[in-house]
This record gives sequence, C-alpha cells and structure tokens, in this order.
Amino acid sequence: MIILAIETSCDETAVAVMRNGREQLSSELFSQADMHAMYGGVVPEIASRNHVAVIGRLMEVALKNADVKKSDIDAIAVTCAPGLIGALLVGVNFAKGLALALGKPLIPVHHIRGHIAANYIAYPELEPPFLCVIVSGGNSLIADVKGYTDIAIVGRSRDDAAGECFDKVARILGLGYPGGPALDKLAQTGDDTAFSLPRPIINEAPFDMSFSGLKTAVVNIVHNAEQKGEHIDTPSLAASFSRTVSDILVPRVIDAAKQLDRDKIAIAGGVAANSRIRADFLAAAEAENRTLFIPPLKLCGDNAAMIGCQGYYEYKAGVTATMSLDARATMDTDEEF
Ligand code: KG4
Repeated sequence: MIILAIETSCDETAVAVMRNGREQLSSELFSQADMHAMYGGVVPEIASRNHVAVIGRLMEVALKNADVKKSDIDAIAVTCAPGLIGALLVGVNFAKGLALALGKPLIPVHHIRGHIAANYIAYPELEPPFLCVIVSGGNSLIADVKGYTDIAIVGRSRDDAAGECFDKVARILGLGYPGGPALDKLAQTGDDTAFSLPRPIINEAPFDMSFSGLKTAVVNIVHNAEQKGEHIDTPSLAASFSRTVSDILVPRVIDAAKQLDRDKIAIAGGVAANSRIRADFLAAAEAENRTLFIPPLKLCGDNAAMIGCQGYYEYKAGVTATMSLDARATMDTDEEF
C-alpha cells in the first residue's frame, strides 16, 4: 500500500511517500526555521503562508524521488492535530483536495502518534506494547503504546513542553531559534553540576512533569548576573540545565516502565535529539534491563514519513476521514477523530 503523507503542523513543510507503513520511498522537508529565527520563535502567519507556497512543489519532488506516480497512490495521510491551526489547515486542505481529485481515502493522523511511529521506521522489529516518551517543542508526554492505535497517556507536562523550555533558555543565553541544538552544543564543554536547578515533583501524579519553574530559574540566574554585571559561565549553565531536564524525564519514564511492566522504551520528538538525554536514557535502560529505541536525528524532528507510517496503522484499524475533516489546534493523543 502506497501512502502519500503530509505534515504542516508547525514551521516544517513535509511530504513523504511510504510503502506498507514502514518503508520510506521518499521523505522531503522544507524547514522555515531561518525565516522565523529573526523573530525568536515561530510566527504562525508566516508559517502558514510558506506552507502554501511550497507544498505543491514539495509533493512533486517527493513523488519523483520515490519514483511513484499520482495514480500509484493508495491513500493520503495528513496531520490534522495538534499544532498551529493555520499551518495545519494548509496541509489538511491540500490533502482533502488530493484525496478528492484522486478518489482515494483520506487518513487523519494525530501529530504525536506520528512521532511515536518514527520508531517503527527506524526499528523494523519494534511492535507494541512499549512505553514511549515524546518530547517536542509543543508536548512532553509519557505514553503507554498498548497497540498501534491504542495509546494511553500516563504522564504529561503540567505547563511548558521540554522543547519550549530549551528554546526559551537558549533565547535568554543569546543562542537564537530554534535553540535546542545550539544549547546542546554549548553544554558539551560545561560543568553540569555548576548550577543547582529545580526538579519539581507532582505528588498526586508521579509521572507528570513541570518545566516552567526550571525555565524561570535560569532566567533569574541570567538577569541577576546581568544586573550585577557578573560573568556567567554559559556552557556550565547550559550543561546544568540539560542535566536537569534529563533528571526530570528519565527517572519518570523508567518508573512508568516498571509500573506498567514494559520492557521496551522508545523516545520520540525533537528533544530526543539531545545528546545528554539520549546518553542518560541509554544508561538508565541498560541499568534497568530494558531495550531502548531511539530514532536517528532525522526522524526525531517533524517529518512526513512518521505521519505516513502511523497513517498506515490508522487505516488498517479502519480510521479514515470524510471531506468534512477539520484541523484542530489541540487534541488528546488518545482521543478519536
Ligand atoms: O518534534 P519537533 O521537531 O517539533 C515539534 O513537533 O514541536 O521538536 C522541536 C523541538 C524544538 O524545541 C527544538 O529546540 C528541540 O526540539 N530540539 C532539541 C534538540 N534538537 C531539537 N532540544 C534539545 N537538544 C537538541 N539537540
């Protein structure tokens, strides 16, 4: 089964062609990061306009690189939630037009379910059940993946997403947007014990997380130093911050895996590209005798291959949409379309 997949939930326009779920025939990405960098974050209106400008051409490139004709496509999968509403609408309407013109099924895909599915592409042997932690610019979730389309959220951030926190801390350290990769690099030469930062615990929900206090703590350290005219050891602040995010995430995921008796743990989302977090997950999984699945960096961030992969399993589970499909800015991962 050939699925053409479309992803436009934020500032990346992506189109992929997937065969039978896991085989990537092509995966094209147009990143707008440079266009948003001067504003210090994604400007929704600019994101939508750029999706409109490139999506048609990107689809042609994806089809050409996959050596597939439009007539070979069996279904169209599209991210329809959650994300920036204007950006999502570009992909959803493009997918609807294509599905209508080709007379093929339209498959709605939840963006977070797509991030989880990135692991299926990277690891052909991986099958549910497993525990998955999804850490991206907009979400921080711990999911119990009981089946391909049977996903229960067992932990979530109560406030900021981990990636949002990385981006804001990077901004205050003058590292530009998106800040995660630059902060990761800066942290390599720092001392991760130099700054003591908060690791909040939510007693009534031990797998839930909170990152906003951590962000505020870093902002206060920087502002205080600026007011006093003191020098800040920014590599050490970056290293201490990265270590703290990891200390918030890793033990919760390991505890959830133990409680739910899951021997496989996967990580997903842009922040899964972080070197400290990857290393800590690898060490913790080994110590606890769990198998860890980490997708390559290219599959961690937003892409359309993961949407095509999850779309395949949604389709097999009977999930398709009509022409009344709408985009949704918010939607729980375990909610039905
Ligand atoms: O999954 P993603 O590409 O987009 C969303 O769906 O949000 O994640 C983007 C997030 C950004 O916040 C970015 O700064 C962060 O992932 N990120 C990183 C790293 N690479 C990307 N954060 C920390 N370390 C990295 N190496």
